[in-house]
Amino acid sequence: MTKVGVSILSADYMNFTTELKSINQSGAEYLHLDIMDGHFVPNMTFGPEMVRQMSRECSLPLDVHLMIEKPERFIKEFAEAGAEIITVHYEACLNNLDEVLSSIKEHGCKPGIAINPDTSAEKIKKYISEIDLILQMTVFPGFGGQKFIESTLDNIKQLSKWREEENLSYMIEVDGGINFSTAADCVNSGVDLLVAGSFFIDSDNKNELVKELQEQI
Ligand code: DX5
Ligand code: ZN
Repeated sequence: MTKVGVSILSADYMNFTTELKSINQSGAEYLHLDIMDGHFVPNMTFGPEMVRQMSRECSLPLDVHLMIEKPERFIKEFAEAGAEIITVHYEACLNNLDEVLSSIKEHGCKPGIAINPDTSAEKIKKYISEIDLILQMTVFPGFGGQKFIESTLDNIKQLSKWREEENLSYMIEVDGGINFSTAADCVNSGVDLLVAGSFFIDSDNKNELVKELQEQI
């Protein structure tokens, strides 16, 4: 079964408790939290204290997606805030990705690497045996509600091929523009974790939506 993470980015921030409750009971496997710093991406969201408070309202494991420069400054804070997975961008750690991944592990979390739509999977090949997850961005990070970029399927197929050839078990996650149609393409290409943002938030039938995404094979 395919796993689903729900992103709260497009939720009503004045009603987080209600939104978190609906995610908590939706049947999704993860709460996906988008952390933006206004530097790495042209938008800002929230920090570790907010994550800590949200974890009290939602019992799902936290999948923390850091879209920030110098993520090494905040690994400890997000780990202590309750993150299960911490994903950093390859593009934000060009000189120190090894150390950042080690730091995530030392703080008791699962490390993930995210790549933007225009980054070749080849760039992260040397790290694939050290990580639990690869997040292929299927839109340019920064905003919810964008259109899925088809060409990212090439990276996904490549990542899936390496996983099989090298007998590895990292999860392949996609984030951005996911709906039933793009989800099917992703799962057929090897994805095991789908992030749903606005598709979930805008839906009137959230539990059914999660179930249908999980049933994509
Ligand atoms: C984009 C974020 C995504 C976003 C996805 O930078 O990383 O998690 O919330 O939103 P949708 O599903 O609306 O494209
Ligand atoms: Zn995200």
